[in-house]
Amino acid sequence: MASTAPGAPQTHIPLPGDGLHAARMPGHWLLARLGKRVLRPGGVELTRWMLDTLGVDPEERVVELAAGLGATARLTLTRHPAAYTAVDRDPAAVAALSALATPGPTVVRAVRSDAADTGLPDGGATVVYGEAMLTMQPEPAKRRVVREARRLLDDSTGRYAIHELCLLPDDLDPALADRITADLGEAIHVGARPLAPTGWCELLAEEGFTVTAHRTAPMALLEPRRLIADEGLLPALRITGRALRDPAALRRVLHMRRVFHRHRTHLGAISLIAVPTPTEH
Ligand SMILES: C[S@@+](CC[C@H](N)C(=O)[O-])C[C@H]1O[C@@H](n2cnc3c(N)ncnc32)[C@H](O)[C@@H]1O
Repeated sequence: MASTAPGAPQTHIPLPGDGLHAARMPGHWLLARLGKRVLRPGGVELTRWMLDTLGVDPEERVVELAAGLGATARLTLTRHPAAYTAVDRDPAAVAALSALATPGPTVVRAVRSDAADTGLPDGGATVVYGEAMLTMQPEPAKRRVVREARRLLDDSTGRYAIHELCLLPDDLDPALADRITADLGEAIHVGARPLAPTGWCELLAEEGFTVTAHRTAPMALLEPRRLIADEGLLPALRITGRALRDPAALRRVLHMRRVFHRHRTHLGAISLIAVPTPTEH
């Protein structure tokens, strides 16, 4: 684990995926290169629901797994938790997270490590959450990340939240689920393995959590209305302009959008809130 104190002098902070060709890079880093900062399927609205339901307040010690470029970190920091630690495995993301401005007394830290093995202390957090990251892990790694969240959380006050892609409905034909998974992987160039709502609940339950609330939203990441809602009108126009000026990036974005649109009835975003399941003595 490598840790960086925020506020250290930063010159040019490279974006994750710098130097990769638009035709081959992971879809989320391509969108980041175009200027997109909200990289999770349910957008800022589902993120706000997640943070409201978690109820982050000034006593909390928050750990964000796979914090990316810090879009949710900024929302969390406006709630002035006592401590906020961002974890990501991408060095450029950690450099961006290390430059987060702290609008209050929160102790902020950015740590480069795998979300399944953060090196952070047992029970040191009251809130752990992660967005758009479990979907891209194979099954055993999904479990390891959820287990790590459980280890990090205080037994009595801890809360955990996820915000991920989901397959709909719960009894989706497995052949269609495989087809969607393959189409997604081909479009975003990252293995994407979303679960159905029941699958996400079972995963959390099997790794020591009781789900207390959940909400779904349409998977509309690249729809104009969502783009404007997530990024703001001018940034959305700038993102569109950059894509139009870069034929390789435009092809990728249109491919991703076509796949999301084709499978729109069977793809959604889901956020789950959970607490540690009390252990029997
Ligand atoms: C799609 S982006 C989402 C970023 C951010 N959570 C958001 O919603 O805007 C996925 C992020 O997960 C990080 N990531 C993926 N697997 C990880 C792992 N096993 N450990 C730590 N970070 C991981 C990537 O580096 C990237 O920052």
